[in-house]
Amino acid sequence: MNKENELLTLYWKDNQLYILDQRLLPHKIEYRICGACSDVVDLICSMSVRGAPAIGISAAFGMAVAAREAQAKGYNSSQMRSFLKNAADKLFQSRPTAVNLSWALDKIDKWLARHGDANPDQIVEGLTRQAQIILKEDLENNRLIGIKGAGLVPPKASILTHCNAGALATGGYGTALGVIRAAVEKGKEIHVFVDETRPLFQGARLTAFELVHEAIPATLITDNCAGYLMSRGKIDLVVVGADRIAGNGDTANKIGTYSLAVLARYHDIPFYVAAPLSTIDLSLSSGKEIIVEERNRSEVTHFCDCSIAPETIEVYNPAFDVTPAELINAIITERGVVNNPDREKLYNLFAKV
Ligand code: MRU
Repeated sequence: MNKENELLTLYWKDNQLYILDQRLLPHKIEYRICGACSDVVDLICSMSVRGAPAIGISAAFGMAVAAREAQAKGYNSSQMRSFLKNAADKLFQSRPTAVNLSWALDKIDKWLARHGDANPDQIVEGLTRQAQIILKEDLENNRLIGIKGAGLVPPKASILTHCNAGALATGGYGTALGVIRAAVEKGKEIHVFVDETRPLFQGARLTAFELVHEAIPATLITDNCAGYLMSRGKIDLVVVGADRIAGNGDTANKIGTYSLAVLARYHDIPFYVAAPLSTIDLSLSSGKEIIVEERNRSEVTHFCDCSIAPETIEVYNPAFDVTPAELINAIITERGVVNNPDREKLYNLFAKV
């Protein structure tokens, strides 16, 4: 636990990277030590660490781990750089949808380009420092997202969230959960409804865990329950995170997010996306260009290792969906709230200093 009594998603201690194995939550708290960059790749692929910002931060530290591996092999600077290039390629391929991964790798790459004459020891130190900066800035950005987002929350509010966009999905505090945390810190009377979030139950296992841990009043619901609650006037607003936001505001997030946005619009309930600028991908003109990861069939056919479907049934298991910008009332970022997001407003956000 850190000083705010939050479970750390990952940390760097005595020149080693520790990543919390989120597959074991909420029942076990175990950290994996990453002795090699391939360990980080495996932990991302297996979703031991997940959530867009957390994946990006892990990848940045993965590069620091790779630099140490190369140093231990006695590589010279140019050998180390080609080893790092290979490590970056593997990390880049570990999960395709969350843009924070390539964003973080790009930051590391730019550092390497700026320090073309660095020796191996300097590269090791430099990459470790860069990863630490990315982690620290993510935490700071989440606090800002929280402060700005809390302004959208009425004094008494019932909030629906999906998947886990909390401390566990980030460097700490969370994006969507950051907004909720900040609203509670401001003394607002909040009740959170948490979608269980099939197939991997990030809502039930992780978001519910974070909320219980912080004693924020919350109720766990099945994914299919949201429409019924909205129809009964039980939800005042929806806030979710994002894995990639295209230049026009279309937003990829955990599968089921789009259905919630459609339901929210039908019931005239505000639908908010909370995400740092590192999740916005201005290179994509619309959500149609976002690559949606498809995951293993067993996530759908099995429940806790127990088969729940005929073995031969065909399965479709996209991990994310894309919500069109027109269904999003606002995107909450560390630089401010973008109401009715569109291309021009998102570009202006990046132009702000
Ligand atoms: O498949 P996951 O668990 O990585 O999906 C996570 C989400 O969809 C989150 O909502 C998103 O990454 C935002 S995390 C701040």
